[in-house]
Amino acid sequence: MRLLMIGPPGSGKGTQAERIAAHFGVEHISSGDLLRQHVAGGTSIGRAVEERMNRGDLVPDGIVMDMLRRPVEAATRRGGYVLDGFPRTVEQAEAAYLVARELGAAVRIALYLEVSDRELVRRMRARGRMAGRADDSDEVINHRLEVFTERTAPLIDYYARRECLVRVDGDRPVDEVTAAAIAGLREARSQLDG
Ligand code: AP5
Repeated sequence: MRLLMIGPPGSGKGTQAERIAAHFGVEHISSGDLLRQHVAGGTSIGRAVEERMNRGDLVPDGIVMDMLRRPVEAATRRGGYVLDGFPRTVEQAEAAYLVARELGAAVRIALYLEVSDRELVRRMRARGRMAGRADDSDEVINHRLEVFTERTAPLIDYYARRECLVRVDGDRPVDEVTAAAIAGLREARSQLDG
């Protein structure tokens, strides 16, 4: 299983990626979590990305690609991955495909979580109050949603044209979303293995 998650901020990519990875016995790799670990650890990567992340802007492609290369290769050797937060743009998807194909690590299925803007804002505001993530303020939430629409949403067509997109209604309780995602992935996988 080599899967990536697409969805707007707050759509449940992290929540579902963890469950799906556990279900299929593969690793969950989150670009956002790895970047936040760098920020918390004060590493050179962390210092380079902190301001952009706090503003809700994407960080430079080169940083993300270098950071993910080893974990993705290692996970591929161990049976696969669920990648959450990458790619964020068609450019990232194309660059990653060229590298990953040579390693036999290219993604096979993309899972798109569809959630209404109203519910996204509700979830991120709630988390902002509880967990205090720096990018969960109202102003930054709005900007993150704009960045998704402009930069990331074109990936939905990109993967649909490659016939490897699974769409799931993410506007439901967590367990229902997980069940629908796993059912959709099983079907997509059996079609691919055909
Ligand atoms: P990233 O960490 O990827 O953040 P994001 O896309 O903004 O997504 P979130 O983590 O907010 O939401 P999620 O979809 O994972 O949902 P979650 O499960 O957490 O990226 C952060 C930043 O890093 C970016 O802005 C950028 O700066 C940088 N970055 C990362 N990758 C990059 C890349 N490839 N290129 C360039 N820059 C990059 O759930 C959200 C909340 O809702 C939680 O509280 C959860 O408990 C709750 N929830 C989840 N599902 C449900 C449900 N079904 N019902 C009710 N509540 C739910």
